[in-house]
Amino acid sequence: MTKEEALNQINYLSKEIETHNYNYYNLSAPIISDFEFDKLLLQLQNLELEFPEFSFDTSPTKRVGGTITKEFKSVEHKYPMLSLGNTYTKVELQEFDERVAKAIPNQSYEYICELKYDGVAVGISYKDGKLVLGATRGDGNVGDDVTENIKTIKTIPLQLRTANFPAEFEIRGEVMLTKKAFQKINSEREDIGEVPLANPRNAASGTLKMQDSSVVAKRNLTCFLYFVYTQNQIFSTHLESLQAAREWGFNVPKHVQTCSNINQVFEFIEHWNTERKKLDFDIDGIVIKVNSYQQQKVLGFTAKSPKWAISYKFKAEQARTKLVSIEFQVGRTGAITPVANLAPVKLAGTTVKRASLHNADIIEALEIRINDEVIIEKGGEIIPKIVGVDKSKRDLLSVEFKYATHCPICHTPLERKEEEANHFCPNELGCPPQLKGKIVHFVSRKAMNIDSIGEETVELLFTNNLVKNYSDLYALKKEDLLHLERMAEKSAENIISGINLSKLIPFERVLFALGIRHVGETVAKKLAVHFKNIDAIAAASYEQLITVEEIGEKIALSVIKFFENDLNKQIVEKLKEYELQMQLDESKTIILSDKLKDKTIVVSGSFTNFSRDGIKDEIIKHGGKVASSISGNTSLVVAGDKMGPEKLKKAEKLNVAVISEEEFIKLINYGT
Ligand code: IVH
Repeated sequence: MTKEEALNQINYLSKEIETHNYNYYNLSAPIISDFEFDKLLLQLQNLELEFPEFSFDTSPTKRVGGTITKEFKSVEHKYPMLSLGNTYTKVELQEFDERVAKAIPNQSYEYICELKYDGVAVGISYKDGKLVLGATRGDGNVGDDVTENIKTIKTIPLQLRTANFPAEFEIRGEVMLTKKAFQKINSEREDIGEVPLANPRNAASGTLKMQDSSVVAKRNLTCFLYFVYTQNQIFSTHLESLQAAREWGFNVPKHVQTCSNINQVFEFIEHWNTERKKLDFDIDGIVIKVNSYQQQKVLGFTAKSPKWAISYKFKAEQARTKLVSIEFQVGRTGAITPVANLAPVKLAGTTVKRASLHNADIIEALEIRINDEVIIEKGGEIIPKIVGVDKSKRDLLSVEFKYATHCPICHTPLERKEEEANHFCPNELGCPPQLKGKIVHFVSRKAMNIDSIGEETVELLFTNNLVKNYSDLYALKKEDLLHLERMAEKSAENIISGINLSKLIPFERVLFALGIRHVGETVAKKLAVHFKNIDAIAAASYEQLITVEEIGEKIALSVIKFFENDLNKQIVEKLKEYELQMQLDESKTIILSDKLKDKTIVVSGSFTNFSRDGIKDEIIKHGGKVASSISGNTSLVVAGDKMGPEKLKKAEKLNVAVISEEEFIKLINYGT
């Protein structure tokens, strides 16, 4: 291939891929399968490897991230990032409308109503259609350069789609996590013993400031755009600018309405006040903007916000009640979570007795004291939160609340690492809730799946001194259980048979069940496949561990720490004696991904990195099917050295794609 051909092909593929990204993420209407998409991406990656001079910053291959930013550079905003005046009542909105009418007398005007997306504000700059900068709001004048993280967001174009854009412009929007993406992050955090994040907005904001952009890429942030700044005025209305931005490839939500008077604005607000519960993202109000740019100009600005726009904030349902006490809960990994016990109060249809306080910083910021009258709110989260304290009602004799210094259960002094929000009880091997938590995790569905044992049974077994750690489960006999409170013979039998059955659970799940901090399901699989058995993992050095895909410093150190500990070593030895699966069963399929789902693949020739059976195993592990001959059903041929010419002909005739071993490796590894 000549350089020119390569460049053309790279440009063509980049455009194709971004179109498919747009269809998938912005329009939710993909027209090709994931598999086909991966193939295009792979072709592009290969071309870029071969012609690195054409590996552009705006290439879709750059969306996987990989850069580490130790400190974000400060950037001055060309157009200050203003805030909006807030209103909470119809009357205030009517007053806004009167101010607008007065400033543009005898003119008719329209409002554009939009949702007020509850995320993190960003400004993204484009030059000649290419993304050049992504910045956070900061103090409104100076923000952080988060370009590398912004580039991983698939709904933000790296290169604009159409040609009719201004040479330079900035677009403002809100980086968001959908509720679904947020739940996924939290469920994965719980699996590895990390404290769940409070809400999608905090999670999005934390993610945007992460140093490793490849972690950002996996979190599936999205971005809703709502304002375009250009040097020269090229639009006459805000609505036009939104429509143009949509054509350029931005994700401009459809929930936008033109209103010709304030009553229509009220209708829009009322509609969304109830409908918002059905959205897959959080909004905290409605933004109302005068549509005409000319009228916006006449209206102008105050020091902080435009006079042509305002926000209406939804009232989160609130209630007042008394804070009775604050208790400290200890999680499986020793993380301490403060929980408020409240005098029961009705809020949004339920009686609330408890509220989360998250961590010491939040308690400090609220300046909360026992017996205070607190204001609680139910926002997007299920658990209500305390949003304020009515200090005017405070008892004269009340004293400052002191955060726990020792574990409430085992009384070990608490620790707090600099970069972490929560305090920890370091007594991992002696603190009862941590010990119980580890057993609960061990028996859980995704781990050993002993469904006859739930949290209550663990509590019962633990308090009766029948188990101290999960290896003790395997020494239990039916008779041990029978004299426990409310333990029927049948339940005892179920427990014992559940424990015995769990000995068949494959190694990678046993490894996950051990509850090594930061070792979630995926990491456990990667470790199992790489090292094959528990002894090899226990003996692995830091260097060996970090060569495994997805294993970074944090995980490697945690694995080492786990296996250095004498008690853990003894427990693992016992589990071996009880004949749990402690090595990879290579005859059984391990599903590493569904990258090859529904694909029937033929392998041909010999390979450098795999035996012929090895490559077939790999296909199965990634969800594909292996076939021995090419037919109309074949999705793909992986060609090694000396692929038979007959096969090649047949593949060509049937229009079946043929890829190299190297391309195959990239295909199964890419993006996982
Ligand atoms: S327009 C000069 N539109 O709300 C006009 N802002 O309180 C700038 N926001 O900083 C803002 N949804 O982070 C606008 N549809 C929307 C919005 C929106 C959310 C945020 C944005 C802004 C803040 C102002």
